[in-house]
Amino acid sequence: MKISIMTLFPAMFEGFCNTSIIKRAQEKGLVDIECIDMRDFALDRFKHVDDTPYGGGSGMILKCQVVIDCLNSIRTSRSHVVLTAPIGKIFKQAKAHEFKKYEHLIIICGHYEGIDARVYDYVDELISIGDYVLTGGELAAMVMADATIRLLKGSIDEQSSADESFENGLLEYPQYTKPSDYDGKKVPEVLLSGHHKNIEEYRMKMSLKTTWENRPDLLEKIELSPKQQALLAQIKEENK
Ligand code: ADE
Repeated sequence: MKISIMTLFPAMFEGFCNTSIIKRAQEKGLVDIECIDMRDFALDRFKHVDDTPYGGGSGMILKCQVVIDCLNSIRTSRSHVVLTAPIGKIFKQAKAHEFKKYEHLIIICGHYEGIDARVYDYVDELISIGDYVLTGGELAAMVMADATIRLLKGSIDEQSSADESFENGLLEYPQYTKPSDYDGKKVPEVLLSGHHKNIEEYRMKMSLKTTWENRPDLLEKIELSPKQQALLAQIKEENK
């Protein structure tokens, strides 16, 4: 797939694109990431990209013309266009799964002080990464691109992505590596037993426990199997 990122700060993406899994995914040809500097589409000789808001108020607003001229230079009939904005729908794992299917994903990084609202008519959706305000959409674009790229086949070990948080509606169980005793803190015995069925049940229980403790809202959104319901009842009993 191709991901085009429209930004006023392309330098912010250098570390992101040239490190670890994201770098490897590009080298393997799984994804082609391009960063486009929207400033190149400013029309005046001082390269102004923003202006004062109509109706008054503080701050500068990113100009429609700059964004739309940039978008039109890269958009095709097969592009899916996303604008990062705190007013957008919240980004979730399911959206990353949707994004990975697009041949061409365009992410427009919103501006810290605002963007001309007429831009909304030219994009497919507005996405926020959480209920807080960032200085710009660049970090949000990296979050979305990262969550999407790691789902591309061949990017990371598929079993590890199948087991992780949110993939089955639950949070991931805790993991451990050597040594089995660190400063008196021991790795749960069952994980050293080699008994696969018991390990699987222990992990399911811990996954349910972590979700129940940290994100009980997630438990209301999924249908638990009879086995999971029994484990959850056990957890609640043990933690009374
Ligand atoms: N721009 C500023 N804050 C944002 C957020 N929370 N999500 C996406 N884009 C943003």
